[in-house]
Amino acid sequence: MPPASLFRATSFRLALSYLGIFTVSAMALLALVSWSTSMFIEWQVQETVEAEASGLSEQFRERGLVGLTELVGERSRQDIERRTVYLLADGEGRRIAGNLFGWPSAAENPGWARFVIERMGEGRLVTEVLGRTYELAGGARLLVGRSLADARRVKSAINRALGWGLALTVLLGIVGGYVTSRHMVQRVESMSRTATRIVGGDMGSRMRISEAHDEFDSLADSFNEMMDEIQRLVEGIRTVTDNIAHDLRTPLNRLRSRIDLTLLGAGDTESYRRALEETLADADNLLATFNAILTIASVESGQRLHHFEPCPLDRLLGDVAELYEPLAEEKGIALSWQAEPGLSIEGDRHLLFQALANLTDNAVKYTPAAGTVALTLATGAEGIELAVADSGPGIPAEARGKVLERFVRLDSTRSTPGNGLGLSLVQAVARLHGAGLRLEDNAPGLRVRMVFPV
Ligand SMILES: Nc1ncnc2c1ncn2[C@@H]1O[C@H](COP(=O)(O)OP(=O)(O)OP(=O)(O)O)[C@@H](O)[C@H]1O
Ligand SMILES: [Mg+2]
Repeated sequence: MPPASLFRATSFRLALSYLGIFTVSAMALLALVSWSTSMFIEWQVQETVEAEASGLSEQFRERGLVGLTELVGERSRQDIERRTVYLLADGEGRRIAGNLFGWPSAAENPGWARFVIERMGEGRLVTEVLGRTYELAGGARLLVGRSLADARRVKSAINRALGWGLALTVLLGIVGGYVTSRHMVQRVESMSRTATRIVGGDMGSRMRISEAHDEFDSLADSFNEMMDEIQRLVEGIRTVTDNIAHDLRTPLNRLRSRIDLTLLGAGDTESYRRALEETLADADNLLATFNAILTIASVESGQRLHHFEPCPLDRLLGDVAELYEPLAEEKGIALSWQAEPGLSIEGDRHLLFQALANLTDNAVKYTPAAGTVALTLATGAEGIELAVADSGPGIPAEARGKVLERFVRLDSTRSTPGNGLGLSLVQAVARLHGAGLRLEDNAPGLRVRMVFPV
């Protein structure tokens, strides 16, 4: 990954913004620490100066100027490290004792003053001093001060430590931001590469999921699930398209060869009429198949939700049963129905009728003579149950999922007419109504239950 694109990465810019905010606040904190340190040190210097001065003034009170002069001289000599400044002067400003040789101009007036001295005691020493001038009884003046050199050293040591700390933090922040954003950019780039591969036609390509189980992994997981679903749908569409092409080609070929044969034949009116009638029946059949496909597609797309209305299921069951009764009778099948009264759901009346009719149609169609078909409506443990049971050959357990797909017909029933679309519509209608569809063994025969949860 080129470094330029890494620096443009949102994550890196975000890390830099946080680092900026952090640096500013760290600098503010540093300034506060530095300021309060110097305040504390100065306060300590003042305390020392005042303690020193109070000792001296005690002596002045007890032994007068002579005693003070002695003490100042003594203390000046004792201050080998040259940290404390003493200067005692008479009313005319002449030096009496102390380790300073001239009165600093900044300390002329009584009170605190800050000044620089260049000579102290025996040798040369340039240092900044914080001192206080006291007026003594009789016109004499006393200056007591303390060098700020130590304070300055402590302060600069603290500042240096804080400065290094800040520099290290900024450095770590930049390195950390670089490393984390490189990691993020790599993950995003890997995702985008996968997406590009998919766009390029490799539908089986999936995003890598790491061990970390982080948010990228959950995004990749959702994406992979989405791709699985898309692939399943695309494959479904492909299968349906293949099936449509295959299933419609046979009747169309048949239709075409019939016309061909008729044209080649004797050509009398009767044979033309027969050929036309058969062609019409085939065309009707083709149209019915198209209509069934379109109905399933429109039900699956959920466009029909706005047709929902209260549907009394007992009436619906009675209507379907009555519709199929003549056909069942003709085949020698005993068709019975039993409905718990007053059961009703919100739904599409037309589609529910069509679904129940498809199930009854199958039951009557696939059950051999002298069999039974029973339509029932009752409230079960899971909700309202609409069931169609027959005593026919049934569907083997392993084929029960497959027969719900479009155009799927079992080999054993190929001799009976049909397109393999009836159960697909039933499943689509069940889904539209939030109902479960169960294909079970009726021992013998098949029992199909539609369960509407209440
Ligand atoms: N009651 C049943 N008993 C035995 N087999 C059945 C029964 N119902 C459905 N099948 C099997 O499931 C297949 C699919 O049924 P479906 O209703 O979808 O299509 P079809 O009946 O073949 O054609 P169509 O309903 O479109 O006219 C049937 O071809 C048949 O093999
Ligand atoms: Mg059918």
